[in-house]
Amino acid sequence: MAIPEPSARLLALPRYLFQELERKRAEAEAAGREVTDLSIGDPDLPTPRPILDRLAEAASDPANHRYPSSAGLLSVRTQIAEWFATRYGVTLDPKREVAILIGSKEGIGHLPLALVNPGDEVLMPDPGYPVYAAGTTFAGGTPVRFALREETGFVPEIAALDRLATPRTRAVWVNYPNNPTGATAPLRFYEELDAWAAKRGLVIASDAAYSELYYDAPPPSVLQVPGARERSIEFHSFSKTFNMTGWRLGFAVGAAHLIDALVRLKANLDSGAPQAIQIAAAWGLSAVLPSHGPALRGLYRERRDVALEGLKRLGCPIKAPGGAFYLWGRVPAGRTSMDFVSRVFDETGVLLTPGTGFGDGGEGYFRIALTAPVSSLERAVRALESLAPWKAPHAPAPSYSR
Ligand SMILES: Cc1ncc(COP(=O)(O)O)c(C=O)c1O
Repeated sequence: MAIPEPSARLLALPRYLFQELERKRAEAEAAGREVTDLSIGDPDLPTPRPILDRLAEAASDPANHRYPSSAGLLSVRTQIAEWFATRYGVTLDPKREVAILIGSKEGIGHLPLALVNPGDEVLMPDPGYPVYAAGTTFAGGTPVRFALREETGFVPEIAALDRLATPRTRAVWVNYPNNPTGATAPLRFYEELDAWAAKRGLVIASDAAYSELYYDAPPPSVLQVPGARERSIEFHSFSKTFNMTGWRLGFAVGAAHLIDALVRLKANLDSGAPQAIQIAAAWGLSAVLPSHGPALRGLYRERRDVALEGLKRLGCPIKAPGGAFYLWGRVPAGRTSMDFVSRVFDETGVLLTPGTGFGDGGEGYFRIALTAPVSSLERAVRALESLAPWKAPHAPAPSYSR
């Protein structure tokens, strides 16, 4: 008997980009080459010690050894609501407007299964985090991509969104601080987005996984727009805030009917996030974040400035990001993103992410993750300097021979 193929819905998806990059890296390392990996946005620093101590304590409590609730501990949801009120001035009902996730990716990937019917369309940014499209495709919906253009600060114009909307459009994804561009969006954008979504009857799905990583003013939440609460769900993460990617914890906040749909779906698929992790991370919002947040932002600022100044010196067209921990630069003229990234890796061992890993709209760009120490970023800049990729090729010397 032939071994069954994976499902058509799985085969319809491209392979997850980072799996491919990990393979490239493993091959090079097996061949004994030095690799400077700036491709994956996975913090290189440990989870803050007080959170680990709190986690160890909670892990020893037998009350936390049993199945958690799908929505998460109410005490934890209450702490999240308290933090949200301090951070954004928005009061949430922890019972109805907050749910705990096994990392924000889990909720982002699952939301369409709770919301989208086959044939529905979902608007999403291009370039953008690949999970928006994957989740929509799994639910039988159609991803419809809108361009994030440099000329508008990688924030879409509402008129451009409106041109793409149809009666089948169900929801629109936005993501600020943005992966991969590092852009942030002002409250004004959310106000305009909400007015438009209300007119069209759309759900706003906002991915705020990088909410605490910013270089200027703290980025706003879509829920700060009064009416947006009725039609918005916003995803937050402990991964980047507390260097907790390995622990897997995030949360969703927003309209009670959207939170309820997501929790109903989750109750059928998973059994909630481990309670000890919930307890430690939520406690950290009041006990650790006030001192850890500024220190973390200072660290990424230093890395950002080293890499940015270095790349600018080499002639790379690149702008300072307002948030997240990425740099988004232009590849040399006449190159594709993939060619450029492959050549840099093959010749220098520096692994960047090709812009096209985030959709066709990423063509012409590369991404650097600042999740590596300053010494690695300096090494990457020196390696790129040796390639001098942004210097125009020398004009051929004039020939005087006849
Ligand atoms: C834009 C964006 N959203 C969500 C996530 C998922 O984060 P997590 O599942 O660790 O909370 C990531 C991770 O890289 C991301 O870049």
